[in-house]
Amino acid sequence: MDYQWPLLYACSSDRLFDGVVKLQSLLALLLLLLYSFGSSEFIVMASTIVNMPLNVGTIKSIDRPSHGKFNPNVLPIRPSISGLPRRHLFVVKASTSDGPIKKLGMSDAECEAAVVAGNIPEAPPVPPIPASPAGTPVITSFDVMRRPRRNRRSPVLRSAFQETSLSPANFVYPLFIHEGEEDTPIGAMPGCYRLGWRHGLLEEVSKARDVEVNSIVLFPKVPDALKTPTGDEAYNDNGLVPRTIRLLKDKYPDLIIYTDVALDPYSSDGHDGIVREDGVIMNDQTVHQLCKQAVSQARAGADVVSPSDMMDGRVGAIRSALDAEGFQHVSIMSYTAKYASSFYGPFREALDSNPRFGDKKTYQMNPANYREAMIELRADESEGADILLVKPGLPYLDIIRLLRDNSPLPIAAYQVSGEYSMIKAGGVLKMIDEEKVMLESLMCLRRAGADIILTYFALQAARCLCGEK
Ligand code: PBG
Repeated sequence: MDYQWPLLYACSSDRLFDGVVKLQSLLALLLLLLYSFGSSEFIVMASTIVNMPLNVGTIKSIDRPSHGKFNPNVLPIRPSISGLPRRHLFVVKASTSDGPIKKLGMSDAECEAAVVAGNIPEAPPVPPIPASPAGTPVITSFDVMRRPRRNRRSPVLRSAFQETSLSPANFVYPLFIHEGEEDTPIGAMPGCYRLGWRHGLLEEVSKARDVEVNSIVLFPKVPDALKTPTGDEAYNDNGLVPRTIRLLKDKYPDLIIYTDVALDPYSSDGHDGIVREDGVIMNDQTVHQLCKQAVSQARAGADVVSPSDMMDGRVGAIRSALDAEGFQHVSIMSYTAKYASSFYGPFREALDSNPRFGDKKTYQMNPANYREAMIELRADESEGADILLVKPGLPYLDIIRLLRDNSPLPIAAYQVSGEYSMIKAGGVLKMIDEEKVMLESLMCLRRAGADIILTYFALQAARCLCGEK
């Protein structure tokens, strides 16, 4: 009974798509059975498994050790979702050697008999205790039962016990668009551009899709001449956003497009709503405009409309408006807890959307408030929101956790412009390691309870996660 199990390799492309892997494992098992019944040494076959652009599985862990150089932040895969489905060579190698399996020598019974008789085969000696540096105090070890460091002592263990994962599938990439042909750099956000809607934008989306980021959110820079106190350009079916959505959907039908629902890019006052003579932001009249804006975006093909305006009752009103027009399938991501934050500064520069007067404190939340987020949560849930968003991200981790623990709905976190720019600036000044801080901040947003993250780092981070730079 000196039977050696054949060694089985499943060599395919370096993709890790769940379905493909499961199918491959099944095939591999079948082939293993075939082999054990005495069939050929090598079986080579062409697999017809195709990689569907939409069917990209989630990546479960970022602390996956690759042999040799270990980088906890790099996934040893290089996924691509561009291009057509391809065929892959599927090879099962049934032995490590090219010839038939050789008998190594003694049988199991002979080996056991040798050990029983005291002829123990040689093995490496018990390893020596590693030396401590001279001067290390000589002490008796603590008598502690719990030593949590035991579970952190090697990359393999750390990877096995990692609680949170980060994947490009979690990212939504915010993109600024304008009417121009060129891409204009945004001074306060290094690496970000106002993209030309017909060229630069399509290129950026294509790059993102190459690393599995297939969700974007659009922010338009609207010409000043089109801005009015009531922001009517927001629901012009041939305005910049609806036009861009139609172009993107034409080229990438499976791209998930989120849109921002708020009047600020269209308002001559730079506010998210209509401003009355005395400075009051008019709630219900604004919501009326937002409904028209959301319907116009849905008509163009938006998948998820995202009211970021913080008016009362807007989620329910937008839901009814969408449904009345036959857009039952369009989701609403509500900015549930959007705080009146100074972290939005670079964004307002990007869109030239600073309020002309006053601030946004009568509609955005007070950064000092925690319980108030529960009031917004209850309203959004009862009005039919599909996703709840917290904004900003990192300074508001407690709010993300609050929403996570109090709602079964998916939670989104927005890592806003100021958070992005601080990490970029710290990196440029060599005060921090930009890439590591970027990945850590994103992981922390996930740990706090965010399912998806809106982040200007989406492309850069996804490239890191896919082992590209
Ligand atoms: C406006 C809007 C803002 C952001 C997203 N949508 C700015 C604001 O509320 O003034 C900020 C995003 C960022 O800072 O990255 N509706």
